[in-house]
Amino acid sequence: MCEFVEIDEKLFIGQGVQRRCYLYPGNENWCVKILHAPISCSYKRKNFREIIYCYFTRLRKPYLDCMSAYIKTVKTNLGYGFVFECIRDYDGKISKSLLQMLEDENFMLQNFDRIASAVRVFKKTLQDDALVMRNTNPANLLLKEISPQQSKFVLIDDWGTTAFIPLEYFVKILAIKKLERYWSRLANQIGNYKTQAAVRLSEIFKEKVPIPTTNANRSFL
Ligand SMILES: Nc1ncnc2c1ncn2[C@@H]1O[C@H](COP(=O)(O)OP(=O)(O)O)[C@@H](O)[C@H]1O
Ligand SMILES: [Mg+2]
Repeated sequence: MCEFVEIDEKLFIGQGVQRRCYLYPGNENWCVKILHAPISCSYKRKNFREIIYCYFTRLRKPYLDCMSAYIKTVKTNLGYGFVFECIRDYDGKISKSLLQMLEDENFMLQNFDRIASAVRVFKKTLQDDALVMRNTNPANLLLKEISPQQSKFVLIDDWGTTAFIPLEYFVKILAIKKLERYWSRLANQIGNYKTQAAVRLSEIFKEKVPIPTTNANRSFL
């Protein structure tokens, strides 16, 4: 039996193509994602796939700080809600997305080194943990400020694959190849913004992450 949670529009924090996201009443470190109409089967499958992938990755690593953690599913007055960790900066503000940063050239230029170093760490973490992502939407990457000097990227949406047999979940080198394609697509998308900072950031996304030549990368996870 799912717990019931009353959602009020005052708790709204953001909306994507498929879901609306609200603060979880009584816990500021959580948020609830609820499908908004029209609800199709593919949207339902996406939620299911994300939750399964969270469980699957947690078997390998109990806490992955580059992905917002799935907490639980609840019933709400707006339909089923999927509760995730809410990504906030050290000062409590909800973290900015890569999309918001791309639209704010001044912020990008003033914080470029910090953002670039977060990109490099994020790429390496995803590769080391062989995580797979689907959609290159920059709205799905939040830059969490850990301190005034240090930030890290956290993925909030669209992880896992739609493949019928997801071999990349088990064979690390396939996950790495998929990630390389993902970075290259994302870099092109960022480069399309054509601002000076976006073009420089796109180059950082294109940098190759060295693959350690150990057997572990060729074998099953
Ligand atoms: N874990 C989170 N922490 C903070 N904000 C979030 C989080 N998840 C989603 N959001 C906000 O809600 C919006 C929609 O959520 P998202 O999961 O991306 O929906 P969709 O699947 O429809 O794209 C995001 O663009 C972001 O603004
Ligand atoms: Mg999204």
